[in-house]
Amino acid sequence: MTHISEQSSFNLDSKDFGEDFVWGVSTAAYQIEGAHDAHGKGASIWDEFVTKKGTIFENQHGQIACDFYNKYRDDILLMKSMNIDHFRFSLSWSRILPEGTGRVNQKGIEFYNDVINFCLECGITPWITLYHWDLPQALEKLGGWTNRKILDWFEDYVKICADTFGDRVKHWMVLNEPMVFTGAGYFLGVHAPGKKGLRNFIPSIHHAVLCQALGGRLLRKIVPGAIIGTTFSCSQITPRSNSKKDLKAADKADALLNRLFIEPSLGLGYPDQSIPVLRKIKKYERPEDAQNSIFEFDFIGIQNYTREVVRHSYTVPYLRAKIVKAPVRNVQTTLMDWEVYPPSIYEMLKKFNTYKGVKKILITENGAAFEDTLKNGAVTDLERTSYLQNYLKQVHKASSEGLKVSGYFVWTFTDNFEWAEGYCPRFGLVHIDFKTLKRTIKTSGKWYRDFLGKKEQKEVFKTKKTDVPIG
Ligand code: GAL
Repeated sequence: MTHISEQSSFNLDSKDFGEDFVWGVSTAAYQIEGAHDAHGKGASIWDEFVTKKGTIFENQHGQIACDFYNKYRDDILLMKSMNIDHFRFSLSWSRILPEGTGRVNQKGIEFYNDVINFCLECGITPWITLYHWDLPQALEKLGGWTNRKILDWFEDYVKICADTFGDRVKHWMVLNEPMVFTGAGYFLGVHAPGKKGLRNFIPSIHHAVLCQALGGRLLRKIVPGAIIGTTFSCSQITPRSNSKKDLKAADKADALLNRLFIEPSLGLGYPDQSIPVLRKIKKYERPEDAQNSIFEFDFIGIQNYTREVVRHSYTVPYLRAKIVKAPVRNVQTTLMDWEVYPPSIYEMLKKFNTYKGVKKILITENGAAFEDTLKNGAVTDLERTSYLQNYLKQVHKASSEGLKVSGYFVWTFTDNFEWAEGYCPRFGLVHIDFKTLKRTIKTSGKWYRDFLGKKEQKEVFKTKKTDVPIG
């Protein structure tokens, strides 16, 4: 796609990031798998949440989604054809443990074994996220993340996953964006399970922090040679003005959105200097918790999409800070109304590089939703292509300045179920027609394929004829 490269003057090669740099795509179970009740799978909080009218755009749901459960071979082959060597996906806890704890669903185990084995057969390295937001509903009935028992439930789950898949999977991430699943799910109520308020948020934060470290310790013990990470959402925070109040508001937003989950894991405690209400966590703390919140991760995954401009606000309780939404700032935005702001990814790399305890950093998600149109069998998504290129230039800038960054995963492989926004915002490198489930590689996907470069043809796969139209 040379004209695109010229258009945005992108002349980097994937090799410019170093031979060992990891390139991949990221996905999450509920967003792609479908088969919501197949073969003994239990319900998750997302299966439940989507049934409540008005929670999801046009009352859509992930019951079928991309049908990855049935089409995983086709999708992995498609990935291979696009030179993608690393595949990050999450496990559905309730597919493995339908009641969240106790009885194991062998069919669920078989499914993930098949996915992992097929990745390996295709020369693709599987990267597993243990928790990408789909808590078993049976556990939510007992309080979910607000209940300290989550530590025991999570331990059961992690042990089973590590014991079962750890012989073949070496790359693990414990949690996906704890700030988002506690904030949107247990404070704002806009994501599953739809709980609101500080009384839900505060204990959830603490229990997620403890599970994050606990998961790390269990993986370390059980999986020989494991490379263990966890992932954080993060955005550059720009104060709207240099007034004292706006600067203070920006500091609070930064503590909430960027520091809250990494700092306790590094032994730095909660950022309660910036956000005093976090002291309420003490009520849930036991003497050993500070120590048990710490884990020496092999890498940190940072996930960046945009930046936030923040101003002071009297009306927002506790935080006294408010985001100045991108559409009112007259800047280029994606379909999520997020500002397109490539320097944010560089700033976040810089920020996370300043933590002494962080050994390695990978970008485990970056991508964008734009209006895509399928015309004559093609999706010419030039905006997404140049978004990815411009963010990559910033990643390259960081890397050439010597900042730690050793991988990049595009969010996401195929269009999928985008949580409360349903199927409307499409983030994929591959388009999905959600009526026929037909896959079509977009221009951005072809660009990524070419950017990653042709690899030697590995072995010829013995596989059933694929019904996925490629191209
Ligand atoms: C992340 C999340 C993904 C995906 C993406 C785009 O916060 O981990 O599941 O939804 O945002 O919104």
